[in-house]
Amino acid sequence: MKFSTPYQIDFSKRDPGLNVDELFYKRWSPRSLKKTIIPGEVMTTLIDAARWSPSAHNEQPWLFVTSASEKEFQTCLDLLVDTNRLWAKNAGVLGFIFSKRHFETNNSPNRLASFDCGTAWMAMTLQARMMGLYTHALGGIHREKVYETLNVSKESYEVICGFVIGIIDQPELLEKEYRDREFPSPRKPLQEIWKKGGF
Ligand SMILES: Cc1cc2nc3c(=O)[nH]c(=O)nc-3n(C[C@H](O)[C@H](O)[C@H](O)COP(=O)(O)O)c2cc1C
Repeated sequence: MKFSTPYQIDFSKRDPGLNVDELFYKRWSPRSLKKTIIPGEVMTTLIDAARWSPSAHNEQPWLFVTSASEKEFQTCLDLLVDTNRLWAKNAGVLGFIFSKRHFETNNSPNRLASFDCGTAWMAMTLQARMMGLYTHALGGIHREKVYETLNVSKESYEVICGFVIGIIDQPELLEKEYRDREFPSPRKPLQEIWKKGGF
């Protein structure tokens, strides 16, 4: 199953390296989304992609909680800050990623758990892109409310962020404050993020 993009996205603010696959630089986080139901089997594929991520001691500390009905979607929407709720309402699925705080083997704190969850998130995101879908991570959430509403133990898990999965739509359909920012953003140059020896 492959979903299509209804307009020509302007990637001119991005300067991909010579050999980077477009899967990476054509991934971005749109806000203009078209309300569409994402089939259950598609969601299974996305989370299955995340499942294959590497993690410290193969702990697989991630837990994905996603909406599976319109009622649950609305419940999840209430867990977002207003500025996110305004546009995220048109997503197909709303979800949250949690990291398990302690290793299962010896109950010691897992200081790499959020790193591993980020890795799993990216795997899910790239699988989504390969199927024509988009994701958008959401740090702006009501954290305390998330545990209670989604029935996830705060003692065992830390909520990392929320996210939407959806089908992209025309930027013109967004409210003004979001419309002007609806384009794939640039990146720092390689020299700024890479110390290539010489230390
Ligand atoms: C952990 C995380 C939290 C984020 N939280 C929000 C958020 O609350 N609201 C929002 O509109 N975008 C949010 N974003 C999206 C970022 O602003 C976006 O990824 C960044 O500007 C880079 O743009 P791109 O993803 O389009 O390449 C978040 C991204 C990440 C990875």
